[in-house]
Amino acid sequence: MIKIKLVTSEKIEIIETGTGLSLLDILRKNGYPVYAPCGGKGTCGKCMVNIKGKGNVISCTYYPDENIEVILPGVNETNILISQTEYLEDLPFKNNNKHISSKPYGVAIDIGTTTLVLYFLNLHSGQIEKIASLLNPQNSYGADVISRINYCQEHENGLTELQCTIINALNRELDLFRTEEKIDSSNFEKIIIAGNTTMLHILLGENPVSIALAPFKPEFIDKQTREGASTGLNVHNKAEVVTLPCISAYVGADIVAGLAALKAFHRNYLFLDIGTNGEIALLKGNEIFMCSAAAGPAFEGAGLSCGMGAVSGAISGFTRQKEYQVIGNTEPLGICGSGMVDIVAWLVENDLVDETGQLQDNFVIYNKNSIHITQQDIREIQLAKSAIYSGMKILLKRAGLSFKDIDALFLAGGFGNYINIKSALKIGLLPYGLRDNIYPVGNSAGIGALQYLKSDDFENKINKIVMNTQYIELSNIEEFTMEFALNMNFSKKN
Ligand code: FES
Repeated sequence: MIKIKLVTSEKIEIIETGTGLSLLDILRKNGYPVYAPCGGKGTCGKCMVNIKGKGNVISCTYYPDENIEVILPGVNETNILISQTEYLEDLPFKNNNKHISSKPYGVAIDIGTTTLVLYFLNLHSGQIEKIASLLNPQNSYGADVISRINYCQEHENGLTELQCTIINALNRELDLFRTEEKIDSSNFEKIIIAGNTTMLHILLGENPVSIALAPFKPEFIDKQTREGASTGLNVHNKAEVVTLPCISAYVGADIVAGLAALKAFHRNYLFLDIGTNGEIALLKGNEIFMCSAAAGPAFEGAGLSCGMGAVSGAISGFTRQKEYQVIGNTEPLGICGSGMVDIVAWLVENDLVDETGQLQDNFVIYNKNSIHITQQDIREIQLAKSAIYSGMKILLKRAGLSFKDIDALFLAGGFGNYINIKSALKIGLLPYGLRDNIYPVGNSAGIGALQYLKSDDFENKINKIVMNTQYIELSNIEEFTMEFALNMNFSKKN
C-alpha cells in the first residue's frame, strides 16, 4: 500500500491505495473528480495535477508506486446557468395535497453532461427554497456522453461507478439542504429529472452502450418512474422519482422539458441547445421536427489545444479591442467555448482567418501560459458550427421552410446563454438572417422539470411534444453530408 496526500483549497486528506492504478483512477474513486475530457485515454493532456517535488503530471498516465503529495487544481467558480427568463413558463403551483410526509419537498433536477442543477420546491407553499448548481463529477470520465459510454463498455463495473458518482453528488446536495432546513430525507417525496438520454440511463443504472452503436437504440426513451428506495437517492422510500421522456438516443428529456417550458407565441420557430451535440427542434404550427447534430466537444472547450470547461481561469469572452474576460477574474488558464467563438469571429473579421478557415499563424492570446489558437482549433470550430447549421437546414427542408419563414430562434442551455450572438453570427453558427430574432432562454431543461413538479398540467404539454415529434436521424440523410461540406466556410458578409 502507498499513501497519497491530497491537498485542495478546502482540505488535506491522506488516502491509502494499492499500486497499479492511474492517479486519475485513484482520485475518481476517492471522490476527487479531475476534469478529464478524453476520459483518461491520455490524448487530451488536460487532467493535469501537481505532485510535490515532481511538478505537473498527466494524472491518467501516471501510476504512483510510492508515497506522494498531490496538489489538486481548485475549481472555485463556474458559469452554471440556473436562470428563469421571460421566455420560460412560470406556472402557478397546484398542491395535490396527497403527501406522504408532514413537511413535503420536491426536487427538480437537470442532469447535464457538464453541470447539475437542483431546484428545491416546498410542496406546501409552492416556494422554491433553494437552487443548487455544481459541475457534474462525471466530467472526470470524459467531457462528452460517448467517452462516458465507452467507460461503461470498457470497465467491468464502469456503469456502477458512473452511476454512484452521480447519485453521490445528488445525495450530497440533498443532504446539505436537509441539514440547512432541519428536515429528514423522508421529506423528499417527489423528484423530477430532466437530462439527456445517456445521463438518464446512467442515473438509473441502465446500460447506455446501445446509444453509441448503430442503429442507436437506447434501452428506454419513455418516462420512467421509480420508487425512492430503489434509486439510491436519499429520499423517502416511497418517493416518486420520475425521469422525463426522451425522443431518441441523442434527443433527450432535457430538450423535451426545455421545449415544453418555452412560452412561444410564434408560428414557426427553432429551438436549439448547443453542446457536444446540437439538439435542434423546429416547430411549424403543430408539427415538430427534431434532430441532433454531432458538433464534437469544441463548444464545451474540449478537443482544443488550449480549451477548457467554463470554470475559473477560462477565457470566456474576447472583445473587438482584443481584451479578454476570464471567469473568476483570475489569470487565464485556457479558453472555454464562448471565448473560442469570440476569438474565431475576431480572427475572421480581421482577416487572420480566411473564408476557408485558413489561419495565417498560431494566434497567441496570453503569452505567459502559452494560450493560443492553432489551425486545428479553427478546424474543430468549423466542424462544430457546420454540423449545427446544417442540422437546422435539414429540418427546414423537411418542413418545407427556409430561414425566412422562421419567426424566432430560441437558444437553450448554458452555452446558448453565454455566447456572444454577434460572434456566433459572424462564424456562421447561427443564421445571419435571424439576427434580430434570437433569444437565449436560460436553463429551459431545469425549468421544465420544475414546471412538471409544480403543476400536473405540464405533463400534457410534454406528452403532446413527444406525440407530435418527427425525429430525423441525420446520419441517414445523404443531403446532410453535402450541407455539412457547404457550411464549413466562414462568410465575410455576416
Ligand atoms: S489526457 Fe488524461 S484525461 Fe485526457
